[in-house]
Amino acid sequence: MTAHVALAVAIAALSTGQGKQLYGQYCISCHGANGEGVAQARTIGGAPQRIQEQQSARGPSLRGVGALAADFYLRTGYMPLHRIGDQPRRSRVLFSDLEIRDLVAYIASLGSGPAIPRPQPQLGNLAEGLHLFTDHCAGCHQVVAQGGVVTGALPPALDDATDVQIAEAVRIGPYVMPKFSETAITNTQLNSIVRYVDWIKHPDNRGGWAIGDIGPVPEGLVTWFLAAALLVALCVVVGKRLKRA
Ligand code: HEC
Ligand code: HEC
Repeated sequence: MTAHVALAVAIAALSTGQGKQLYGQYCISCHGANGEGVAQARTIGGAPQRIQEQQSARGPSLRGVGALAADFYLRTGYMPLHRIGDQPRRSRVLFSDLEIRDLVAYIASLGSGPAIPRPQPQLGNLAEGLHLFTDHCAGCHQVVAQGGVVTGALPPALDDATDVQIAEAVRIGPYVMPKFSETAITNTQLNSIVRYVDWIKHPDNRGGWAIGDIGPVPEGLVTWFLAAALLVALCVVVGKRLKRA
């Protein structure tokens, strides 16, 4: 083994080491000592509510979820979950980039699972993306991806989702979102979906003014407001001239 390889191995071991430690500190209570998950505690008849709550700390098994899920849940700030029973939400990311990489490496080491995807939206097709998004995603996220409502969960707006996170979410199906296999949505189709979501995040090329992208009626109204303001200004100027004359 060359010194180079030895060093790389040592660094890898060290990285996972910190991941394990962070895991012990922030994740173990819900996901178990070895990522096996913590089962939901049975309701014990007559036991005080407070004790039941304490006993019901739980999370799914992380074995085999791979770097993909770990990367998504940590970089969105979905994890660590603040309160048991909450829907994971995008929130402040607790960890540094290095800490995230270590945690991801540790979780990936718990079982063989998918790697972090590398979408290539530049190879996707916008029209196909719109079509696929309408078919598979808009029911929850709406056509303009501003979030929506499904029973028991709030599908978030997709403005903050990076290309990688969009691809990850599609493969994971976080919370009540369905999971899409590579048969249901191929990687090529996924490129088109990512391209479409990117496009609706920056719809500069839609024509008209970007006044919150709320459509032609308010845009027309703004034109009227401007026209009215111009008319008033014109009257003032003309009025002054008339007074002077
Ligand atoms: C308060 C409990 C709690 C804590 C603390 C917590 N989790 Fe979770 N975790 C959950 C629950 C509940 C889910 C299921 C969420 C869902 O369905 O989207 C989950 C899901 C996940 C998933 C997705 C699993 C899958 O099947 O795709 C990953 C990865 C994950 N957590 C990692 C972590 C990491 C890493 C930490 C520590 C930094 C952590 N969690 C801390 C409760 C918790
Ligand atoms: C049944 C409703 C439903 C469908 C269909 C659905 N999603 Fe979701 N999606 C959700 C919910 C709910 C969440 C929030 C998950 C959570 O809180 O853990 C979510 C989260 C996401 C996120 C993470 C956003 C963020 O910033 O937190 C992305 C990206 C996403 N979905 C993309 C898609 C795409 C692309 C499709 C279509 C291929 C799709 N979703 C289909 C309900 C849905």
